[in-house]
Amino acid sequence: MSYEKVISIETSCDDTSIAIVGHDGYVFGQVSANQDLAHQPFGGVVPEIAGRNHSIKILPLIEACLEKTNLSWDDIDGIAVTNRPGLMGSLLVGVVTAKTLSLTKEKPYIGVNHLEGHLMAPFLKDDKFQAPEDFSYPFIGLAVSGGHSQIYLVEEFGSYKVLGQTIDDAAGEAFDKFAKMVGLGFPGGAKVDKHAKEGRVDAFSYPRPMIHEKNMNMSFSGLKAAAKRQLEKMSDKEIQTQLNDLCASYQQAIIDVLISKLNRAYQEHSSIKSIVLTGGVSANSALRFQAGEWAEKNGLTLAVPPLRYCTDNAAMIGYAGIQRLNRGEKSEQTLAPSPKVYPGDFIVR
Ligand code: KG4
Ligand code: ZN
Repeated sequence: MSYEKVISIETSCDDTSIAIVGHDGYVFGQVSANQDLAHQPFGGVVPEIAGRNHSIKILPLIEACLEKTNLSWDDIDGIAVTNRPGLMGSLLVGVVTAKTLSLTKEKPYIGVNHLEGHLMAPFLKDDKFQAPEDFSYPFIGLAVSGGHSQIYLVEEFGSYKVLGQTIDDAAGEAFDKFAKMVGLGFPGGAKVDKHAKEGRVDAFSYPRPMIHEKNMNMSFSGLKAAAKRQLEKMSDKEIQTQLNDLCASYQQAIIDVLISKLNRAYQEHSSIKSIVLTGGVSANSALRFQAGEWAEKNGLTLAVPPLRYCTDNAAMIGYAGIQRLNRGEKSEQTLAPSPKVYPGDFIVR
């Protein structure tokens, strides 16, 4: 059978998201609930709180998504759900819900790799977004978020090679930890971005870890430690008065590393002309701008999905899931969530 529309569920971390997606990537609707306020007092995501909030929000969001799209279960051919990688308690809520709906609504379901979802985000479209016309496979994808920082070579749907990745912290983590150190709270990436707009990138000197190494791996823990040492030498008042410059200089160090690694990936695979920027950190305005300049200089097509498809969202899971269902794959009731990707999910360079 051919699958026209799926309902998709994403609960791998702290965002509960439900979408209805067509086989061509058209997003009929997406509703999400973010838990930032619940985790803010703890300065990071608390797994138990995340799981509990998912279980409260998931069914009302499914109802809301059907209502918003004016669709009913009769219009839905299958269910897609993130089952890996992520927080176990969070994934469990999505997987158990998908399995139960699969049984009660008599629809096949499929477990999806969250990172495959991020990589497929540029294929989503709606009334306001569509990737550039000449964007196509094969492409190089930079996926940067609070939990992951990788560069992939994507030959075609289902074939993902990891060209490089962070050896310690994720780029989003580097933003969040810095934001916390300068008193901007959690999650702080967007706030650092905002302050950086008014600051000078050369006001403070920060290291660009591993930038000269001839590979596509990255490291952000040294940068974070350098910032800590720097901030320890300053009074609270000095930090506050120089906040814009601190944010701009620190942010530029991260961007320089990301773009230089992306450039290295392109140099090694120069026949590839399409590039994808995805994950929560790709919301960063300076990263978007500078990646755009880099792509233009090299005659490349850059696809940067809008924020609703860059941060954790169900639409991307729906797209990856419906492709797999249409290839004849489906999951059994025995499927379990997994905190890690499966050994065959990615080829590591
Ligand atoms: O993809 P995402 O929503 O969730 C994860 O899978 O982690 O990414 C969240 C991350 C957080 O670390 C947040 O601080 C960062 O994305 N982020 C940003 C910006 N907006 C969100 N980092 C830098 N600049 C931004 N504008
Ligand atoms: Zn993610």
